[in-house]
Amino acid sequence: MFPEDFLWGGAVSANQCEGAYREDGKGLSIQDVLPHGALIGRTAAPTEDNLKLVGIDFYHRYKEDIRLFAELGFKVFRTSIAWSRIYPQGDEKEPNEAGLRFYDALFDECRKYGIEPLVTLSHYETPLHLSEKYGGWLNRRMIEFYERYVRTVFERYKDKVRYWLTFNEINSILVSPFISGAIPIPREQLTQRQLYQAIHHELVASALAVKIGHSINSRFQIGCMVLSMPVYPLTPNPEDVIAAMHEDEKNAAFLEIHARGEYPDYLKQYFRREGIKLEIQSGDEELLKDNTVDFISISYYMSTCAAASAGEHEQSEGNFLGGIRNPTLQSTEWGWQIDPVGLRYALNQIWKLYHKPIFVVENGLGAYDTPKERNGTLVIEDDYRIAYLREHIRQVGYAIDDGVHVMGYTVWGCIDLVSASTAEMEKRYGLIFVDRRNDGTGSLKRYRKKSFEWYRQVIASNGDKL
Ligand code: BG6
Repeated sequence: MFPEDFLWGGAVSANQCEGAYREDGKGLSIQDVLPHGALIGRTAAPTEDNLKLVGIDFYHRYKEDIRLFAELGFKVFRTSIAWSRIYPQGDEKEPNEAGLRFYDALFDECRKYGIEPLVTLSHYETPLHLSEKYGGWLNRRMIEFYERYVRTVFERYKDKVRYWLTFNEINSILVSPFISGAIPIPREQLTQRQLYQAIHHELVASALAVKIGHSINSRFQIGCMVLSMPVYPLTPNPEDVIAAMHEDEKNAAFLEIHARGEYPDYLKQYFRREGIKLEIQSGDEELLKDNTVDFISISYYMSTCAAASAGEHEQSEGNFLGGIRNPTLQSTEWGWQIDPVGLRYALNQIWKLYHKPIFVVENGLGAYDTPKERNGTLVIEDDYRIAYLREHIRQVGYAIDDGVHVMGYTVWGCIDLVSASTAEMEKRYGLIFVDRRNDGTGSLKRYRKKSFEWYRQVIASNGDKL
């Protein structure tokens, strides 16, 4: 079912686990002023209640953590580089050597165990200065800063890292312009023209990264990363089907441009209808066309529904993008609707349209864990997490049997970390428990959960033993 070279592993981001937010020359990132998560406004300066300032102290404990990942049998470990460790303000000419050294050591540690790093270049952690001084991705100059940064890290790690992702969940900018695009203007005040202009800048930057990466090392595999959330029609009413189609297009456009290198007709039509004229410089279109991604990566947590009469239905909570509640599905404690079959559906849809290998780089269950003390250690019996992961991995297997080329699967938050949308420690995803609570107390000690041994066996059996 799963191919021999299937890349099993786990995923985190720098800002949710590293901590050390001011160490070794690191500058502030937008996360350092978001103590309450992505959807609630920023503070003027970092405040002590921001759990990310310490995270899980991965910056100092990565060796212990990677040893645990090796014990799990990881083939791949996804993390991000904190841009503000490399270029603390973002617009400097020279990188911060201490920041570069940290990732040298981190990637070497992975390699020591034969674990392939999978690196997100920008995971919701743009240097804050770029937001404050330039307005984030609204400003075309961001392409220049991003280019300098990616060139630096591509050159530096060209022999240590092969798999790269250009922007985490690039389509989340549609709802969260600050976390996703470092844009300091609230979503409701941004015009659609501004929003799509910023998106254009990111897409050009993404294609440029593909171009630069391939010229530095032709073995690089560079992918885009899109928040995948299938949209089902709420009823069989054909008008609901059309509503779902339109809802889906908003996100699909990002895949289309990354994978085919062109703005899709439906998006061009939308621009025409709305009178949106983007500033597209000469050379942009060729750049997009000539530098499509090597593979597509997705995060997958849930599906949603759409209906022609949008306002009248119960809404569900969601991973940035929300939608109408599906009455046939159960939800997590945070109201995200659980839909393993939707993952098979999403993989099939993407494969049929783009025929590029797909990497599931995020999937997992955010849940409260109740550790029990037994014989001087903490025991966490997270059968609910095992059940969630088992069903999703099963569906990945079915998609492979359907003929989809899936490269790998990385469990999100393989070790407990601070959540992105609500900035909590107790919304736990990990196979490894970290003793830290929402009030910031805890020893930061690590404990293997029940799901740890379960996932170890999944990997050891290459997905046979679910
Ligand atoms: C994705 C992000 O949106 O979902 C991650 O890429 C995030 O950074 C994950 O942590 C889960 O969301 P949350 O809000 O539960 O942490």
